[in-house]
Amino acid sequence: MMRLPPGQRTRVTCTVNGQAHSGFAESRTLLSDFLRHELHLYGTHVGCEHGVCGACTVVLDGRLARSCATLAVQAEGAEITTVEGLAADEGLEPLRQAFSRHGALQCGFCTPGILASASHFLAARPDPTEAEVRDMLSGHLCRCTGYEGMVRAILEVARETTEGANQ
Ligand code: FES
Ligand code: FES
Repeated sequence: MMRLPPGQRTRVTCTVNGQAHSGFAESRTLLSDFLRHELHLYGTHVGCEHGVCGACTVVLDGRLARSCATLAVQAEGAEITTVEGLAADEGLEPLRQAFSRHGALQCGFCTPGILASASHFLAARPDPTEAEVRDMLSGHLCRCTGYEGMVRAILEVARETTEGANQ
């Protein structure tokens, strides 16, 4: 394993939202800071920086990751999807519209992480129960909405998608 002296930066190269990116990070640099300040992808929000609130959630090599609890150097060679990539994904339009329709966001601070989790969740569980949706959302803190709109939005999208697939 390569050891970096304190303060020294190394190049980190990864694919973010389908595009190759490269930047520099110290061994202690968090992936969330690398995405925001080195790659200028400010859609990834940072709340608690302790892996609790879920605002910084991204998809890292197909799995959800708290980018505030992941080191930038761990992303070397990885494929990352942030909310900017999700925003460009037309397949997620029903989820975005349902969030808007059901008042599932207010200030929007938690929304990038929740959209990452919800889209990842629906890909694995296309026909979830309400309890499963609530369990998934328990990994995210939202201080505005009370979660009810999110639950309705996610269940509605799941229902419409499942019905469409069965027709
Ligand atoms: S900022 Fe990463 S979980 Fe809160
Ligand atoms: S919409 Fe404001 S924190 Fe969730």
